[in-house]
Amino acid sequence: MDKSLILAWILVLGRAMAVPPCRGYYSNDEPHVPAPKNVTNLRFFFHDTLSGKNPSALIVARPNTTIASNSTFGTVVAIDDPLTVGPEKTSEVIGSAQGLWVSTGRDVPCLTIYMDFGFTKGEFNGSSISVFSRNLIIETERELAVVGGRGKFRMAQGFAHLKTYFLNPMNGDAIVEYKMTVIH
Ligand SMILES: *[C@@H]1O[C@H](CO)[C@@H](O)[C@H](O)[C@H]1NC(C)=O
Ligand SMILES: *[C@@H]1O[C@H](CO)[C@@H](O)[C@H](O)[C@H]1NC(C)=O
Ligand SMILES: *[C@@H]1O[C@H](CO)[C@@H](O)[C@H](O)[C@H]1NC(C)=O
Ligand SMILES: *[C@@H]1O[C@H](CO)[C@@H](O)[C@H](O)[C@H]1NC(C)=O
Repeated sequence: MDKSLILAWILVLGRAMAVPPCRGYYSNDEPHVPAPKNVTNLRFFFHDTLSGKNPSALIVARPNTTIASNSTFGTVVAIDDPLTVGPEKTSEVIGSAQGLWVSTGRDVPCLTIYMDFGFTKGEFNGSSISVFSRNLIIETERELAVVGGRGKFRMAQGFAHLKTYFLNPMNGDAIVEYKMTVIH
């Protein structure tokens, strides 16, 4: 064997040995991850209703230590709130927000929200946006973090600007304008 052939063999073997000996659960399949390229802006109204015979938000737990005071700290509320095109209750429903909000502000009223905004109309029917964020309800305008999504919003990232449109401080009912910017 001449020298160049030996060198070639060494190179071939060297390369073969560079391949991990056990690929285990690695796969060569194309990942089903869409390239992040679309920016979608959405605007809708969120109706959170604690009062009445058919509330869309229910208190599921509350520490007994805060019942005596006016504090809501520690209250956990489960929601299935309609999302509408306009601020009126009669406005067209385009989806719902489901999840929890927890009153997490000890001194300043503040919520932490864990919600999935699912759409039932138009291009995004069947898709949803996941929001997990602190929500400083004491401020009329505030920002929430979009951390993910399903369907057309798979791998979504973004933010939502919130503006309180209506608030009943006696029972907590609220209508909030959401303007979301989502990259997906
Ligand atoms: C981006 O939007 C276009 C047009 O609506 C659509 O065809 C495409 O599938 C979208 N891409 C992603 C990654 O969502
Ligand atoms: C809260 O519950 C605990 C355990 O049941 C009880 O000992 C305590 O007195 C309660 N506190 C108030 C303010 O009701
Ligand atoms: C609770 O709120 C009411 C009305 O705002 C007020 O009159 C009362 O003093 C408050 N109680 C406490 C314990 O802060
Ligand atoms: C939304 O999707 C569901 C399930 O695919 C379908 O039954 C429904 O008709 C769709 N609604 C609209 C308004 O497209």
